[in-house]
Amino acid sequence: MDLGLIDKTSDLLVNSHHTIVLTGAGISTESGVPDFRSPGGIWERYDPTVFFYSRFLSEPDEVWRCVMDMSRCGDFPLWEAQPNRGHLALAHLEEMGHIKTIITQNIDNLHQKAGSRKVIEFHGNMLFAKCITCGARYEYDHVLKIADISLPPLCDCGGILKPDAVFFGEAIPKEALTESFRSAEDCDLMLVIGTSAQVEPAASLPLIAKGMNTLFRGFMNVPIPKSHCHVVEINREPTPLTGEVSDFIIQGSAGEVLATLEEYVHRKT
Ligand code: APR
Repeated sequence: MDLGLIDKTSDLLVNSHHTIVLTGAGISTESGVPDFRSPGGIWERYDPTVFFYSRFLSEPDEVWRCVMDMSRCGDFPLWEAQPNRGHLALAHLEEMGHIKTIITQNIDNLHQKAGSRKVIEFHGNMLFAKCITCGARYEYDHVLKIADISLPPLCDCGGILKPDAVFFGEAIPKEALTESFRSAEDCDLMLVIGTSAQVEPAASLPLIAKGMNTLFRGFMNVPIPKSHCHVVEINREPTPLTGEVSDFIIQGSAGEVLATLEEYVHRKT
């Protein structure tokens, strides 16, 4: 963990007027929730096609059976997990006024459990289920009771309930998409934490922050806006953003880096 880069990032945070954070599954691994693409990750344990939207529409009972197994098997403790020091550090930095918004790709509700208030759930939230007919939303505990009686669980209106996470091939919630893109355009500092930056459109948010999504304008003699935004990665390992989009990467565990970063910011404010 490079303390010089943490010190530099704490200066950027303290002097920033609009900091946002983009998080991925890597911030939750220290809470016992496996990420998706590291060795032993979720896509090594479960068939990703179970989370294809088209599969849910054709075999909702089959998908619910798999989700119930995941929630009961214990090796994917998404529903019981508790926030770790990384989530807590981000909540404290928001409380201190240094972070405006967290855009999370995670579906584990851990930022909210840690006390973060402004959280945009880019990929929804697995701790709820939503009716695909009327849109009514139910807490997961309630759904488990209905699901024990019949699969797929049904809404009071008779419609089928679907886990409220965004499945592959399903649209990102419109409000989450527009608000995230606007925040990325407006911010002057983006922390990108624990994401492999491989899944669109979330992976484009750091490019938008850097004004790089307007590269095409460069060919049309429209000047590419000077990037006013710093992008700092916190990850165990480099990603496609490293050296191309981000200013630098603080390599290390998200929990340890963020707890240290919070300490440095405290000293400077
Ligand atoms: N500290 C820092 N980085 C970590 C830690 C940790 N403790 N644990 C894992 N990482 C890093 C991994 O090295 C990897 O770069 O976090 C990243 C996790 O990447 P993915 O598993 O691909 O997760 P994510 O980027 O969130 O996936 C994006 O893909 O399958 C979809 O919808 C799913 O939201 C998810 C999206």
